[in-house]
Amino acid sequence: MDKQGLRTIAQRLMAGDKGLLAMDESIPTANKRFEEAGIPQTEEYRRKYRELIVTTPKLGECISGAILFSETTKQATADGTPFIEILEHAGIIPGIKLDEGAKDMPAFPNEKLTEGLDGLRERLMDYAALGLKFAKWRAVITIGDGTPTDGSIYANAYALAHYAALCQEAGLVPIVEPEVLMDGNHTIERCFEVTQRVLHIVFEVLIKQRVYLEGMILKPNMVLSGTDASVQADIDQVADLTVQCLLRCVPAAVPGVAFLSGGQAAQDASAHLNAMHVKYKNELPWALTFSFARAVQQPAMDHWKGKDENVAVAQQLLYKRLSINNAARRGEYSAELEG
Ligand code: G3H
Repeated sequence: MDKQGLRTIAQRLMAGDKGLLAMDESIPTANKRFEEAGIPQTEEYRRKYRELIVTTPKLGECISGAILFSETTKQATADGTPFIEILEHAGIIPGIKLDEGAKDMPAFPNEKLTEGLDGLRERLMDYAALGLKFAKWRAVITIGDGTPTDGSIYANAYALAHYAALCQEAGLVPIVEPEVLMDGNHTIERCFEVTQRVLHIVFEVLIKQRVYLEGMILKPNMVLSGTDASVQADIDQVADLTVQCLLRCVPAAVPGVAFLSGGQAAQDASAHLNAMHVKYKNELPWALTFSFARAVQQPAMDHWKGKDENVAVAQQLLYKRLSINNAARRGEYSAELEG
């Protein structure tokens, strides 16, 4: 394992006030979001949309890395320039989503286990040859009546750890993403309790499986009230409980934590990240940034609607959301930035 190489990539990904852009929606997820936005659900429209993203002016000022879906790694702009080349030219490190989705877990009703380990070593060799330097694997944990069970948390943690070890063997930095979903009417305290248990188990297993902590990045959920909870925690409470949870669970050897947005409103995700920096910036042993998909892409996708004449404004909307999150990472976000 090239430990120095992994550390260097992880540190570049976490540098300055930048974040990561998750643009790795699978075909069914991209189609669902396109349908909601009134965009045709074809490979060509997915290509056009990814072209809009990667050619956004000044994108490299805002993000250090972009997580791609497998289809996108082979696509190119209308003039034939591969997307990976465009990103590299903009100083953005290209990465790849490696999991093949969360599927119903046998014998564990309402729980999911993420698949995609078969043939992973070979796929990693192909992706490394394409120039991809990091990867992502998402596990999904549901809060409900009697869930999550330790059975599903451990099964997902072992899959995450095996994926992470294979990535490091191939020289790619693994992003380990155990997402505790927002869905439900649970309190923020219940989300704290579950997220803490999940992260403890994930790190227990990562360490047992000899994952090199200095060469990985954690992508967790923020600690939030359930979407349907009657009482919604305020910004300070989210910042306090999220940071407290991470400080209890994430070893200082890990170079960075990059949040998913999980379906939060774009402004909320930025305000939460900002409050964590304002209140705790001197207490954090790791970089703390964003790796959002919906919370940065949604305004751009909604404006684009699949029309060429809307591309320039959609790109401005994407840039705006990303640069607002850069401000949040500096603890300089304010509602006025929203305009
Ligand atoms: O796997 C999920 C993405 O990496 C993050 O997406 O910010 O829309 O939750 P999200």
